[in-house]
Amino acid sequence: MSVAAGRSPPRTRARARRVRVTRLLRHPLTRYGALAVFAAIVMIVALAPLASLLVDGWSRQDVELRARLVFRSIREQVSQGIAAPSAELDRLLDRLAEDERLLALGFCNEAGQLEYATAQFPKSVACDRLERARADTFDIVRDGNRRTHVSLFPVTIGARSGHLLVLHDLAYSDARAYHARLYSTLSLIGIAVGLGLLSTAIVLAMMRGWTRSLRTAIVRAGLADSIDMAPSEFPVSRDIHTLLKELRLERKLAEGIHIDWSPNTLHRLLLDELPETEVLVVSNREPYIHNRENGVVTLQIPASGLVAAVEPVMRACGGTWIAHGSGTADRETVDKNDRLAVPPADPTYSLRRVWLTDEEQEGYYYGLANEGLWPLCHVAFVRPTFRESDWEQYKAVNERFADAVAEEAVTDDPIVLVQDYHFALLPRLIRERLPRATIITFWHIPWPNSETFSIFPWRDEIMDGLLGSTIIGFHTHLHCNNFIEATDRFMESRIDRERDSVTLGGHETLIRAYPISIEWPPSALAEQDPPQQCRNSVIQRFGLPADARIAVGVERFDYTKGILDRIRAVDDLLSQQPEWRGKLVFIQAAAPTRSKLGAYTALQDEAVGLVGEVNARHGTDGYQPIHLVIRHHDPREVFELFRAADMCIISSLHDGMNLVAKEFVASREDERGVLILSSFAGASRELHEALIVNPYDTRGMALAIGQALRMPENEQRDRMHLMRDFVRQRNVYRWAGQMLLDAARLRRRDSILRSVEDE
Ligand code: G6P
Repeated sequence: MSVAAGRSPPRTRARARRVRVTRLLRHPLTRYGALAVFAAIVMIVALAPLASLLVDGWSRQDVELRARLVFRSIREQVSQGIAAPSAELDRLLDRLAEDERLLALGFCNEAGQLEYATAQFPKSVACDRLERARADTFDIVRDGNRRTHVSLFPVTIGARSGHLLVLHDLAYSDARAYHARLYSTLSLIGIAVGLGLLSTAIVLAMMRGWTRSLRTAIVRAGLADSIDMAPSEFPVSRDIHTLLKELRLERKLAEGIHIDWSPNTLHRLLLDELPETEVLVVSNREPYIHNRENGVVTLQIPASGLVAAVEPVMRACGGTWIAHGSGTADRETVDKNDRLAVPPADPTYSLRRVWLTDEEQEGYYYGLANEGLWPLCHVAFVRPTFRESDWEQYKAVNERFADAVAEEAVTDDPIVLVQDYHFALLPRLIRERLPRATIITFWHIPWPNSETFSIFPWRDEIMDGLLGSTIIGFHTHLHCNNFIEATDRFMESRIDRERDSVTLGGHETLIRAYPISIEWPPSALAEQDPPQQCRNSVIQRFGLPADARIAVGVERFDYTKGILDRIRAVDDLLSQQPEWRGKLVFIQAAAPTRSKLGAYTALQDEAVGLVGEVNARHGTDGYQPIHLVIRHHDPREVFELFRAADMCIISSLHDGMNLVAKEFVASREDERGVLILSSFAGASRELHEALIVNPYDTRGMALAIGQALRMPENEQRDRMHLMRDFVRQRNVYRWAGQMLLDAARLRRRDSILRSVEDE
């Protein structure tokens, strides 16, 4: 979908015009142009009268010169004519006055009377009003708008004397001055207009260049189809801020521009970067489980970091999620194609359930996945069990899910997001069925070092299966390196350490770290009471002293989580610092999980026993230091516990990421509470402001709990503030967004390669 595809409405176009004009007016060169025009106007105002004055001066000099010439040439004849008055003088003067440049000639006698005058001699010129000196004098006589230049030349003949008057009409001088004014004004206006046009042209040229580069950027950003589109079709008329907002996420990322990741951002990413692309997710655990309890169908959201992360992504993206239908009422709630629209309250995507037989579950899920790969990948010192029969089931179930993917795929090149260690063979199997699919496999648990991994009997098979992926994602670089090291040791592959990729059989797989996260804000926060109220209700529910200091732990009852270790640390603290007895209460919410497996039941039994011992050691009537609550807690209950707590203890012996750490941080908008976090959880690579502990070091962890209990509020706030900022920005939409952007880039590269091959 291209944002530029639709024509903008008239109001938008008018606004765009205004924006263009404003931009033009604000351009520095426009300001210089306006300055030049202003200077030209000042010059016109100042120079026009000066031009008139100059022209007038020149005209007068000219007239006076000519009058002198006239006088010199006729002085003799005039003298004679005056000495012996005759009609000859009249005629002479009349003849001279025929010169078109002369207005009239006249003679004033010594008595100040006009004795001779040619026909045009104006009445306004009177001898007695002229200054008649001994030398040549010049005067200007006005008669209304008419100006007459009068030159007086003294003439003396014998006893008689007088003045010869040579009159010029200054109308021609006025005309000349007018023309001079006009031409100078016109030429200054011309210069001003020229300067204005020149600067406008430069501004427009520059703006065009700018616009063109902007258009190119927009086309590159995918917001328009062609740089040559008609202006009305092109979004350049939008305000630059709108455009910047809409620049492709990929570019924003590449240029390090901060992006607020949200469901919307992810949705737009799909529309812009992966238009019309089908998204399929495959995981063992389904996001919604229907169970029948006491004859009633109930809905359960499983305790699974994978589900907590991927579900909000699917809500934002839509598509199909293929998973094992494990609930007792799951079959009752699907349609004839084993699908149902979810989330049940407000469906946005489709859940396709795959049914597994008990044998399949035993071998594939409990056996190979959870007794084999799970302990193999987690350094928790639980020996993995590898059974040939489990491996057979694992292979068969991976095939069944590959078939389900092929059935669900509507296109031949979907994006398939394969989740976790249950499906190590699936990428290769999907590749065989859909060679053009973009397969992103995310391994939610740690990847062990190659020495540890080497004990896995089918290591080559699962490496080969995984390398059918387009991209394999891990939480941390350490896990990426471990995987690359394993391929180096066990596979005939080519490793490109620059690109962090492995090529096997001509197919390249990128190995990338995408640290997983949670939705922000978490939807479970929506209906939460303020922290103080949560605290009150937790105090009431557990019957705690009003001033109790509450520590919480929330997870599946899994031996990788270090639940026993934290109970031992609480025990140690209460022994070492007895002042906390009666005050510190540790609430452990533990969801039963994989309970069919011996390692899990043994853990549960051991934990119950240990809690009993500690409570007996430190408890009193009315004070029970440890509350172990073994049941499934829904997200709302979990968030209430987080908000009630003074601290949250996460002491995983080994963990891919651990999203509980991020959920605890997200739950505390009051910026209170301390996070105690195992250095063996991937989250410790990101949440540096937590109190980082080694769960194997009981005393060290006890001291950390003591430190948390004494931590001043401002220190809690500072630490929590930084962690919240981090999780807010690096939320799960960013996690999914980065994988999808990488997928989009690879798909574009592939389509170029295909078109080159086709030519
Ligand atoms: C871990 C795994 C997930 C799994 C979750 C719950 O987080 O990485 O794949 O869903 O544990 O375990 P379960 O066996 O109950 O699905």
